[in-house]
This record gives sequence, structure tokens and C-alpha cells, in this order.
Amino acid sequence: MSQVRAAITGVFGYLPDYILTNDELATIVDTNDEWITTRTGIKTRHILKGEEQGTSVMVAEAIKGLLKKTNTAPEDVELVICATVTGDAIFPDTANIAAYKAGLTNSFGFDVNAACSGFLYALTVGAKMVEGGKHKKVIVVGADKMSSIIDYTDRTTCVIFGDGCGAVMLEPTTEDTGIIDYQHHADGSGEKFLYLVAGGSRKPATVDTVMAREHFVRQNGRPVFKAAVTGMTDVVQKVMARNGLDNDSLDWLVPHQANIRIIQTISKMVDFPLDKVMINIEKYGNTTAGTLPLCLWDYESQLKKGDDIILTAFGGGFTWGALYLKWAYDGSAVGK
Ligand code: ACO
Repeated sequence: MSQVRAAITGVFGYLPDYILTNDELATIVDTNDEWITTRTGIKTRHILKGEEQGTSVMVAEAIKGLLKKTNTAPEDVELVICATVTGDAIFPDTANIAAYKAGLTNSFGFDVNAACSGFLYALTVGAKMVEGGKHKKVIVVGADKMSSIIDYTDRTTCVIFGDGCGAVMLEPTTEDTGIIDYQHHADGSGEKFLYLVAGGSRKPATVDTVMAREHFVRQNGRPVFKAAVTGMTDVVQKVMARNGLDNDSLDWLVPHQANIRIIQTISKMVDFPLDKVMINIEKYGNTTAGTLPLCLWDYESQLKKGDDIILTAFGGGFTWGALYLKWAYDGSAVGK
């Protein structure tokens, strides 16, 4: 019998309606469109507005869209894995809140917290659950409402992030497609460069932590930039080499959308042409766990069955990795 792999058989994205432009940000903090565009490549980002609208709102919409698109009955989904650092609450899991909202009655689920690498880690776990033979329909989601932990008085972070969500369906296949290889890493010493001070068990919320703005992302951008470039370049090269891929045979590189200069530098260091690199950062900014599935969603119509694709990410933790897959269907045959 041929080897069973997990293949992505559908992708769907959800972006909140409100669009925050660089010009609007320039009315909030001391910045301008020119600085943001040249330093980050970002023009707009989507923001989830409204009282008590958590990440699960976006996840539920993405799941509903994915079910419709893949013609899947809600009761057939067995597992939902949601990568996020901005779940509705510390507990319960956003995966299960969203599954309930989307009408999934037979699934179990859990969240994965690996910051910008979350979708990559979650996709790997989902693939193993399918390869194990027990699960036939697994939904993997990357979603973040970054606006809930961003300090809109801090110009060094508020221009970078946005809200958004993407979801993929994983199913078993015995064809020569699906998820083939991965290599992931973590280095907890990276915590000091990108973190939230308070709100967890180490420093629970108090009036003082709120007054000190300790529930917002703190980042030292330069070391993060350097580590992101080094980490993603290294792991992409390793995964390519051991799978016999070169710059001609690899069809697409899908990098985490953190900063256009990080993406361009990786493409240069790997010597991989930019026209085969998925880029949508100008529209959405950095949606943390959302960037990779949102790229697949935006580029789906250009993907062909059998395309060799490497996804790579780097994020808070530090966490990073790369995953190699063969695309399982002609994207032009399905509507967005
Ligand atoms: N508008 C105008 N000026 C700004 C802004 C802004 N929004 N933000 C910072 N500046 C100023 C700084 O104050 C500084 O001024 P100074 O020279 O007078 O002190 C100047 O611009 C340069 O600041 P740097 O921090 O050196 O700018 P840099 O070129 O490093 O760009 C950035 C900053 C965009 C954060 C960059 O370091 C970066 O992208 N790092 C990666 C961070 C990242 O992507 N994190 C996301 C999570 S992890 C991940 O996804 C990989």
C-alpha cells in the first residue's frame, strides 16, 4: 500500500472589514506612509472592531467558508487546531469556541501557541494526526487579533501588525502530494526581544500592570529582524537540500509576512527569484499566525497540482521552521 500523507484540500481566509491605512496611523502616532512603506512594505492592515469580538469570530467565519468551499458537512470534521497568541481568553481554547460557532458537532480541538510560527507547528501536528490513520478531516487555522495586544501609542510596533485568519482542510492522500517534510526549531532565550510583560501566570493583571501598559507587545526590532533572516534562510536551505530541491524545481516559497525587507533578504540569500515568493504583506501587515494560510488563500488560483512549495516562518519565542509539501489540486479549478 502507498504511503499515506496529509494533503491540503482547501483553503479559506477571513479578514475583518475595517482597513487601517498608513495615513490613518500617521494621525495616531508620529509616523508617515513613506517610513512605513520603505521599512516594512505595509500599506494597509485589517482590524477587528466591536465589543467582545475575539479571535474566534474570525476563526468561525474562516471555518464556515472552508466547509462551504470544500463541500464538507460540519459533522464530518474531526479535529480543529488553531494557532494563535490572541485567543479569546487564556482558556478555554479558541479552537473549540470557534468550532461551536461554526456548527462543528463532532470535533475536538486545541490551540497552539508558537507566535508567528504557530501555523507551521499546527500544520505539522495536524498532518501527523492524519498520517496516523485515525483522522480524515482536520482543519488547521492560523488566526490573530493582534490589535488586541498592540500599543497604539508605540510607533515601532503599531504599524507592523494586523488582524486576520486563514484555515486549511487536511485530508489523507495516497497520491504523490501532501506534506512531505519539516524542520522546526525553538530558542526560549529569544523571549527578551519580543514578549508581553504581564497577563500570564508570571505576572497576572493588576491595576499597576495595566497602567504600565504591560499587556501590549514589546519588541526590539533589530535583533528580531536578524534572527528571522538567519533562521528562515538556514532552515529553508536545509529542507531544500535534503529533499533534492533546487531553485528551478521549487515552485513557491511562502515566507511569514513580517517585513518586506526580511522577505527580500531571504529570497536573496537563498538565491530564489522573488516572483516565486508569495507576498501579500502590503495588504494585511503581520497577522502573526494568520500570514501563511492567508498567502496560500491569495495565491491559490496560481497553484497547480504537484507544485513543490516550502512554507517558512519565524516568530516570538524564538520559534522558527520550514515545511515542504506538494500541492494537491489545481487552484484555478476552485473559486476563492
Ligand atoms: N515611523 C517613523 N519612525 C519610526 C517608526 C515609525 N513607525 N518606528 C521607528 N521609527 C524610528 C525609530 O524611532 C528610529 O529613530 P531614531 O533613529 O531617531 O532613534 C528610526 O526610526 C530607526 O529605527 P529602527 O528600529 O532602527 O528601524 P528599523 O529599520 O530596524 O525598522 C522595524 C524597525 C520595522 C521594527 C524592523 O526592525 C523590523 O521589521 N524588525 C522585525 C520585527 C518583526 O517583524 N517583528 C514581528 C514579529 S516577529 C516576526 O514576525 C519575524
